[in-house]
Amino acid sequence: MELEKNIKIKVQGVKKTFSVGENDTTILHGIDFEIKKGEFALLVGPSGCGKSTLLHIIYGLENPTEGNIIIDGEDIWNKSKDWRANFRNKYIGFIPQQAFWIKSLSVIENIAIPGVIAGMSFHEIIPKAAQLIELVGMEKWADHRPYDLSGGQQQRIALARALLLDPSLIIADEPTGNLDQKAGDELMSLLADINKKFALTIVMVTHNMSQYDFGTKIINMVDGKIVETVKKQK
Ligand SMILES: Nc1ncnc2c1ncn2[C@@H]1O[C@H](COP(=O)(O)OP(=O)(O)OP(=O)(O)O)[C@@H](O)[C@H]1O
Ligand SMILES: [Mg+2]
Repeated sequence: MELEKNIKIKVQGVKKTFSVGENDTTILHGIDFEIKKGEFALLVGPSGCGKSTLLHIIYGLENPTEGNIIIDGEDIWNKSKDWRANFRNKYIGFIPQQAFWIKSLSVIENIAIPGVIAGMSFHEIIPKAAQLIELVGMEKWADHRPYDLSGGQQQRIALARALLLDPSLIIADEPTGNLDQKAGDELMSLLADINKKFALTIVMVTHNMSQYDFGTKIINMVDGKIVETVKKQK
């Protein structure tokens, strides 16, 4: 179907129940939505409503109890664990709220790490890391240690690292959650620029309503259900 080609992510009837001891708690109660290619989707909602759980299910890390996640036409939870790991590494970049760094490596070497994990040498992948560090405006810091940087600077580096293997999708869980307003807005405008420039699909969680303008779609979640999705007029 022609239309389906424009769909990046389809979330279909996703439910999630956690068992803790004797008790089962259902966190996601049947989630359905679609994200089109090139969209910058913001997933918003109160603390504990299940946003991170849903992102982990889309990322292929946490299995849904029911339902499907279709990314680029691939039903990721009907594939093997190895298939998902490979898919994740090749096509998805992830930015957490607080990045983890290898302390003994420089900023640019940390950006290059996903390439090394994928089997390349530093020698092969450093030129790509150098392009990306420039894209995020951090080239002056290439030889520093990541933990010497401010929170906002670290998140720019985390974005560069997430872009290293040319993902077609970026998933970010509150990447601005630990930043002040100014650093948060700077990261958002960088993400919005990259979204436009490369038609890169982004799905991110935020708590900050003042950031809604940066997204092209707002998905509003309450108590494990989608209450509305607002497509912003451009
Ligand atoms: N592995 C787990 N086992 C049991 N319960 C879990 C597990 N992971 C998450 N939960 C529960 O699921 C609910 C939703 O958690 P989740 O982290 O998805 O919420 P959230 O919307 O991301 O919240 P926040 O905005 O605070 O990050 C919470 O009540 C949490 O305690
Ligand atoms: Mg969360």
